[in-house]
Amino acid sequence: MSIQHKQFRFISWLGKGTFATVFKAQDLNSNDVIALKRIRCDREGAHDSAKREQHAYSRLHRHRNVLRLLSHSFQEGAIVLCLELCMTDLHCFLAVHGSQLSFEEMRCCTLQLMQALRYIHSEGIMHRDIHPANILIHADGLLKVADFGLSCVINAPLDITLPVMALEYRAPELLRATPCYYYDESVDIWSAGCTIAEIMLRGVRLFPSLDEVDQLKQIRALCGTPSPSAQEGDVLASLFDSRSVPIGTTEYICALLRLNPSARLTATDACSSDFVHCAPSRLSINL
Ligand SMILES: Nc1ncnc2c1ncn2[C@@H]1O[C@H](COP(=O)(O)OP(=O)(O)OP(=O)(O)O)[C@@H](O)[C@H]1O
Ligand SMILES: [Mg+2]
Repeated sequence: MSIQHKQFRFISWLGKGTFATVFKAQDLNSNDVIALKRIRCDREGAHDSAKREQHAYSRLHRHRNVLRLLSHSFQEGAIVLCLELCMTDLHCFLAVHGSQLSFEEMRCCTLQLMQALRYIHSEGIMHRDIHPANILIHADGLLKVADFGLSCVINAPLDITLPVMALEYRAPELLRATPCYYYDESVDIWSAGCTIAEIMLRGVRLFPSLDEVDQLKQIRALCGTPSPSAQEGDVLASLFDSRSVPIGTTEYICALLRLNPSARLTATDACSSDFVHCAPSRLSINL
């Protein structure tokens, strides 16, 4: 549907991505205010991205920490997703509120992100693009994982030509010079680890890299190398310890950011860790 489409009244722009524009609109039939994501399918890759997103949302409709697809339609060379409306995304939220966040609020964000991933993975989907701009915050204080345009089914054949994950959140196994023919949902855990580190650092990116070579260099500098002689994670641990983060933070982040994918916590383990035990179930900050 175009913005002028008669079922919806345009209210304001919410965001713009690689293939899509997102705006706030009112559904004139129900009066509900919703978000419309319009994916133009005339650019290479856009149609596949829209199909992946629609497929993932159709499988993932039963969790409060996953954004809900309300309906979809095809119009004028575009796929339009009608989505529940959120107030902001985690990237913008950290830019505004990062310096005031309490430790309980940080644990709350961590738990909600991990609960979303536990559900997504249990439904057989890998997200492959977890980062703060793809994690939305609803007015009721719930975090919602969104933007499934790069998602895929776990264990399905991988298209190795498709670049996945924003560079700064990309797992090291996807940064090698030779293509990675197999990887699994632990790539989302790496991205979640970078995101949680960013929450703890109050909006500062853990790996603010320029290109793939620089990204790998930065990962090696902080996380070490996977050889038995190196102490993996020591420098990363000292980064957080030097900021006097509360007990348990350093160990938790290090357990998510293991170089060896099979040594990373699973989303299920991450949800049952002492670090998030009894964390608040929603944010109470006024947005
Ligand atoms: N339901 C929503 N409610 C409020 N804001 C939203 C909603 N969906 C998306 N946005 C805003 O629009 C931005 C872009 O949305 P989204 O990530 O889904 O698009 P994209 O084209 O896939 O993006 P990219 O290519 O940058 O990953 C989000 O980062 C967020 O700020
Ligand atoms: Mg996005």
